[in-house]
Amino acid sequence: MREKRLQTVVQVFDNLEEVSKSDRELLMKAGESLQTAYAPYSGFRVGAAVRLRNGQVITGGNQENAAYPMCLCAERAALAAAAAQYPEVPVLSIAITVRSERHVVDSPASPCGACRQVICETEDRYQHPISILLRGEAGPVYKISTGRDLLPLAFTGATL
Ligand code: THU
Repeated sequence: MREKRLQTVVQVFDNLEEVSKSDRELLMKAGESLQTAYAPYSGFRVGAAVRLRNGQVITGGNQENAAYPMCLCAERAALAAAAAQYPEVPVLSIAITVRSERHVVDSPASPCGACRQVICETEDRYQHPISILLRGEAGPVYKISTGRDLLPLAFTGATL
């Protein structure tokens, strides 16, 4: 037996000013896209902004449904919109932010497992890592340089 150690590196920025201009702008776009969230059931809005290699920024908010399992996360809404509009253009980064009706979220919220899987698939599709920026309403920014770091041992098409 041998152990395989898997490492996840998270860059922590204690405030927005420490973040690069383009990452800050993407986080701002994610914040604006909170307005497009439809979250009447959870009261929890998520906004995502995707930066493409052609410079375009595509956004999405979570889209809930009275049939709860139909709810669509913001990350997948934004990635699907990007793929629909620019199917040939690699995704470089995604910024994700949240807002709750119940409390101030002052720490970053991470993408759910399904969204991590879709981020990894998008990396494989375009053969390009996707950096992930996370921030709550307030508090630090987390930056992870690839979806692989959030989903070690991901299931991939290479297994099929
Ligand atoms: N949600 C997202 O949009 N992204 C995630 O990665 C986790 C959860 C949404 C789904 C649902 O509309 C609400 O947040 C509460 O779970």
